[in-house]
Amino acid sequence: MEEKEQKNAESSFAPLEITDGDFWRLVKFIQQHYGIDLSKKRQLISGRLSYTIKAKGYASFGPFIDHLLEKQDPNDVELVLNKLTTNYTFFMREQEHFNFFQNTILPEIVKRHQGARTLSIWSAGCASGEEPYTISMYIKDFLGPEAGRWDTRVLATDISQQALAKAKQGKYNLPDTIPPAWKSKFFVPAGAEGQYQVAPVIRDNVIFRTFNLMDPIRFRLKFDVIFCRNVMIYFNQQTKDELVARFCEATEPGGYLLIGHSETMGRNPGYRYLAPATFQKR
Ligand SMILES: C[S@@+](CC[C@H](N)C(=O)[O-])C[C@H]1O[C@@H](n2cnc3c(N)ncnc32)[C@H](O)[C@@H]1O
Repeated sequence: MEEKEQKNAESSFAPLEITDGDFWRLVKFIQQHYGIDLSKKRQLISGRLSYTIKAKGYASFGPFIDHLLEKQDPNDVELVLNKLTTNYTFFMREQEHFNFFQNTILPEIVKRHQGARTLSIWSAGCASGEEPYTISMYIKDFLGPEAGRWDTRVLATDISQQALAKAKQGKYNLPDTIPPAWKSKFFVPAGAEGQYQVAPVIRDNVIFRTFNLMDPIRFRLKFDVIFCRNVMIYFNQQTKDELVARFCEATEPGGYLLIGHSETMGRNPGYRYLAPATFQKR
């Protein structure tokens, strides 16, 4: 079924009732494994999942949730998460961050790593890739002809396989916010009308991996900058606090954490506030 037909079928489908027991079993499972707090999303759950559950051959929520919790099949989990959360993102999102990145963070970390010529940057919750590709374009632009002498690879992670597949493909309809000079330098036309693909110089600079932010962080390098923007909105305060503590542990002293401008971070003694949604490890 075409995506549009599918959406129409879903929206005209009468939602199934979800019992208190089934609702809380689902909420607890998603919270424990993925950090996402759905406790106030009862209507969203029955509205967005009923059609899918029926289409999979289940008459009600109960047996579907039994199956989900027992098998924990990543495809089913992803289906549920995709229906209940958003992978919405775009190039140059929250431009203030990129101005700060260009004018303050990059000059500082490039100076700091003149010797090893390695930058270590993580886009945590990268969705379909626009964020790590934007970061990569800023780095290449900043370093100019020197870029080839540096290891500037950006780690980009998400739990959504669907989003990561789109990210790896790197094909987009480009918004006007991308400067024309960057359009011609960092993208190549990709066949379909108006579509572009991220050029190899940027695509090869981003490493996409599946990573659940509820898991311990065990990457080889400590990070100079972590972008985790518009991800923690789904998490409750305790989950957020624990994640921020893990981020702090995984960051170089003097490194940075950037969160979404509509998000709050809570208190973490490891970071000091620098600018809206921008923090530096002490
Ligand atoms: C709204 S997008 C944000 C994309 C980008 N950071 C931005 O600001 O435009 C949120 C992303 O967080 C991801 N996400 C949610 N919970 C996650 C978890 N527990 N582990 C990893 N990624 C998660 C979702 O799959 C989604 O792609």
